[in-house]
Amino acid sequence: MRAMTYPWNDYSGRLSLLKLIVFVALFGPASWTVLSFFLGWLEPRPFNEAIHQIGLWTIRLIFIALAITPLRRILQWSRLLVVRRMIGVAAFAYALCHLSLYTADQMFDIAKVASEIVLRIYLTIGFVAVLGLAALAATSTDAMIRRLGARRWQRLHRIVYGIALLAVIHFCMQSKLDLWEPTIMAGLYFWLMGYRLLARWLAVRGRLPLVWVAALGIAAAIATGLGEASYFAIAYHADPGRVIATNWSLMLGVRPAVVVLGLGLAITAGGALRTLLPLLAKRRAGFA
Ligand code: HEM
Repeated sequence: MRAMTYPWNDYSGRLSLLKLIVFVALFGPASWTVLSFFLGWLEPRPFNEAIHQIGLWTIRLIFIALAITPLRRILQWSRLLVVRRMIGVAAFAYALCHLSLYTADQMFDIAKVASEIVLRIYLTIGFVAVLGLAALAATSTDAMIRRLGARRWQRLHRIVYGIALLAVIHFCMQSKLDLWEPTIMAGLYFWLMGYRLLARWLAVRGRLPLVWVAALGIAAAIATGLGEASYFAIAYHADPGRVIATNWSLMLGVRPAVVVLGLGLAITAGGALRTLLPLLAKRRAGFA
């Protein structure tokens, strides 16, 4: 008889602390939203506020799942792969909650929800992204991987790049005024896709050299700053030079380009430490 496998077990059926921590953490944001809802902290429009909170976590989880491949290569932490599927499935669960909350906010008037999805382009885009996540979640089991074959499964799962792009567009379109986090997400999307392209051409034994990781961080930050300046120039006729100059001051808070630069450089520093520390330890052992 086959032993029961739980989400926190690894492939050999043993408890994986990493999987257990991630599994529990994935319930965190949803539990916080439920608690806030019942304690009245989401007033005056609790459903709308809950839609926002769960929507934010849906896109964050999609991005965290997309970051697993670069992180495990740069930080040489191959075990990180064991949590990718769990995070991807959680992103789908959050997307379903987000859609359900929207339906609840529309008093469960399914005809109205359907017509809004057809008529409002940002909802159509969000809905296509949910359908894409559903396809990925449905084919995420070991049995489905075996049935499809590794190559076809991998090809199908590349639609996650399109889903993430649709999620960023949906986020930007609904945000109207406060584009701080959507702009960061767009910059991180540039980094995540850029990493995959560069790794395809320049990887050495599966790893992108750290100089390229650093260069990508800088390029993503520049693209984020230019994207933000272009948006304000087109939408509000703002002087692009002045928008770019805000990146050098903290008057308007930490700008998205600076956040993207910080994350890109932090990942590069993590990769450098991961390479240097074992070398230093070996050297010290040699002297001892
Ligand atoms: C994977 C798919 C989706 C993702 C990643 C996503 C993500 C988001 C995010 C990040 C926000 C903004 C949160 C904030 O600004 O605080 C948002 C808002 C919203 N989303 Fe989605 N969403 C998705 C699909 C959908 C679908 C299918 C619907 C409904 C049909 C929907 C309806 C809404 C609504 C109504 C808002 C709030 C708009 C407002 O208050 O003006 N989303 N979503």
